[in-house]
This record gives sequence, C-alpha cells and structure tokens, in this order.
Amino acid sequence: MLFQRVKPLDKILETAEKNALTRQLGAFDLTMLGIGAVIGTGIFVLTAVAANKAGPGMMYSFVIAGIVCALTALMYSEIAAMVPVSGSAYTYSYAVLGEMVAWMVGWALVLEYAVAAGAVAVGWSGYANGFLVNHGIGLPEFLSSGPFWVEQLKDGAVVHMVDGVTHKGGFNLIAFLLSLLVTFLLVAGTSKSAKVTALLVMIKIIALTAFVALTLPVVQHANFEPMLPNGWGTPLSGVGVLGAAASIFFAYVGFDAVSTAAEETKNPNRNIPIGLIGSLGICTIFYLMVSYGVVGAAGAQPGGELSQSKEPLAFVLRAIGHPTIGDAVGWAAIIALPSVVLMMIFGQTRILFTMARDGLLPSALTKVHPKHHTPHVVTWITGIVVSFFAALFPVDILADISNAGTLFAFFTVGIGVMILRKTEPNRPRPFKTPMVWIVGPLSLAGCVLLFFSLGWNPTIKFFCIWAVLGLIVYFMYARRRSNLAPGNEAKA
Ligand code: ALA
Repeated sequence: MLFQRVKPLDKILETAEKNALTRQLGAFDLTMLGIGAVIGTGIFVLTAVAANKAGPGMMYSFVIAGIVCALTALMYSEIAAMVPVSGSAYTYSYAVLGEMVAWMVGWALVLEYAVAAGAVAVGWSGYANGFLVNHGIGLPEFLSSGPFWVEQLKDGAVVHMVDGVTHKGGFNLIAFLLSLLVTFLLVAGTSKSAKVTALLVMIKIIALTAFVALTLPVVQHANFEPMLPNGWGTPLSGVGVLGAAASIFFAYVGFDAVSTAAEETKNPNRNIPIGLIGSLGICTIFYLMVSYGVVGAAGAQPGGELSQSKEPLAFVLRAIGHPTIGDAVGWAAIIALPSVVLMMIFGQTRILFTMARDGLLPSALTKVHPKHHTPHVVTWITGIVVSFFAALFPVDILADISNAGTLFAFFTVGIGVMILRKTEPNRPRPFKTPMVWIVGPLSLAGCVLLFFSLGWNPTIKFFCIWAVLGLIVYFMYARRRSNLAPGNEAKA
C-alpha cells in the first residue's frame, strides 16, 4: 500500500511538455538563480548560532554540511535532468515512490520552503533593526523578536521554550511586515527576474568578498583556542560541531531551487547539473572562507559577544575597526535577503499548486488572479502563514525545523534516484551521478546524520508531530480526493 499510486514518469513529462513554459534560462542564469537562493540568512545570521553551538569548530560544521549538500546535489542533478519538470522532490517521489510518499515529501517541503522563508525574514529583521538602532530609532526588543526568543545560554543549550526563562520578545514586527510585502509583490506578479537576481547575487558576493579580504589579514591564532568547546556533539543534543552542522545546513539550502526552474531552462540536460553543482560549489568556497574569517578575526566561543549577535558579519567588521564597511555589509544583507524570502515563498506556492493540481489539496489553491495571472489564493495563504512564523519564532528554531523537512526531502530524492537506476535502467540519463552506489548511500547517510544532530526539542519533536498530522490529512482528505483515486480518473 505504501508505494501504491505511482504517477508514470512519461505522463509527468507529457504534462510538462503540454504546459511548456518558454525555455530561456541558460547555465549562467541557473547558477545565478542558485546562488541567489542559497546565500542568505544562513551565512549572514546563523554563523552566530553555529558559533554558540560549536565555537571555532563551526568551521568543521560548514565543511560537513557542505559535503552532505554536494553529495545530494549530485543525486539531484541526475533526476532533475532526467525529469525536468517543476514540483521538485514532490514530483520525483510521485513518479518513483508513489502518492503517499510524495504527499509526505510535499508536506515536508512546507517546512523547507515556508518555514525557511520565515527564518530568512527573521534573519533580515536582525540587520534591518541593527540599522535602525545605529540611527537611534531601533525598535524595542518586544517588537523586534518573537516571544520564543531569549538570549542563549553559554553552553549553547536550547532554552527558548523552557518555562521560567524570561522571554524578552513579543512580536517581530519588521519580519512580519517584510513577509507580507514580499507576498504582495508575488501576488502582483513579481517573479525571479534574471537581471535582478544577477544584481543581488553581485551585491552578496561583493559583501562576502569584502568580509573575507578584511578579516583574513587579522586572523589570530589565539582565537582558535579552544577549538571544540562543546565537542563534536551527541545525537539529538543539537550542540557541538554536528549540532552546528545540522543548523548551518540551512546556509546551503536553496540550490535545489535550480531544479524548480527546469521547465524554463534551455538544454536542461546540460545546464541543470551545471547550475546545481556550480552554485553550490561557489557558495561553499565563500562559506569556508567567511567562517574562517569570523573565527580568526573575532573569536567564536559559545556565549561570546559574536554568538549573541543578530548581525554577526557586521559585528565582526565593526569589532576589527571597520564600522563603515560593517554597515555596508549590513546594507547588502538588507537589500539582498528579501529576494531569498521571495524565492522561498514562490517555491512553496508552486509546490502547493502542483499538489492541488494533482487533487491532493483543495482546487481553490489553483485559482489564478484574473489581472495579474498569479496563483493569488495559494500565495496569500502561504504568505500570511509565513508572516506569523516570522513574527513569532526565532531564526534558529525556524531554520532547524526547515532543515528537518529539507533533509527528509533530500533523503527521499536519493532513494528515488537509486530505485530508478534499477527499475528504469534504460531511460535516457543526460547526467549520471558518478559512482552512484557510493555517492548515493553516502548522501543518505549524511542526511540521516544531520537530521539526528538536530535537537530533539523542539525540532525533531515538531517534525514528528508534523509528519503524523500529514498522515492524518492524507488519509482523511487527500487520498480520496486524489486524481489517481478510483473514480476520479476523469480529473487527471
Ligand atoms: N540558504 C538560504 C539562506 O541561508 C535559505 O538564507
């Protein structure tokens, strides 16, 4: 029963062919799109969270998360080039593992996209409020953090939801308003324009390059001691190098956005793998240098000043005597991060849209605005939910929960690629994952390792509740409404 109701690959490809979008994106555009979706709150904000969890050892965390993503990107490339349609992991699972798994992947992708959008909005609000504070008009803590935000403890323990701790936050107004504004722009028809994306990518790259150029010369050996104040970490603890790797994984998420543009890509077979692997490779190089610069220039001990900052990259530059460039890097984050929120909400709406088109969600979600030609209903619902996530929760909790959903989706894609090698060995594969029987299992193992390195409370606990809820909705609603349910074939 688990693997029932497979939507044949040929049928999926046929639908994509029928509703073909103009194929206009090339390898360069895709790489830019990937970098545009990847560089965001992870590097600009969660660096502080990683420092709090792992200390200077967070550099290893960046390496570990990067390796897991690289392995997964190789797997993604094979299936994305083979099935160049939108819907990403959800669609692939529908073709390989059947409707129920696809539903669970789609359900988990809500965490990957909607919760991540909230996380990036909260990250953005840290820089935006930092700017306001510098000009004497900062918002009070009550209006710049959600109610679950509290200062983190020295040992990096997760303390947000423990009773008896004074909660300083109330309602993160700036993050809330940003999410609503982005939603409005999406409804009005703003989309990922290749030119704007390229410009924002340049801004981010210049900011990170400036950061590296200024921090590397002032690296001090003393700042690397002790290297592993919280050790490597134990499963479900959410601290140590592995705990930080599981959180900083967020910084790499988004490269799969390249695969969501599959239907708009020229020569997708060649360009999608280049876009996926190219964007991830470039981001990884920057991340490794930035994390080395952060640690070496400012020290990164848990509980230290850096680990408590909501705008850590700007903080480091100010601390080493470059306040103006620190402000400029803050500006880069303020200008560029909203586009990451936009891409995440966009990705979410397209996945929900596809699920609704398959009959698994109410058909009202497929309504298109008469004037703007955008799926306004699903966009508003998504945007409002994201706005409340952003208003109420701290960035690290949102990022960790998003990571749990993403790791689940990545895991399923890996399984799908390997199954297809067995079940459809002769289907044309424009890009073949090299050494798939080594890369595949390693990618799966990496996803499992990072998943269980997330903290039990609240992350994995929340994920389990979310998954059970998903199963209930599937059996009570989606299964019967599906286009593939007996009697509904006419809808398909
Ligand atoms: N990787 C994206 C970010 O760090 C989601 O903001």
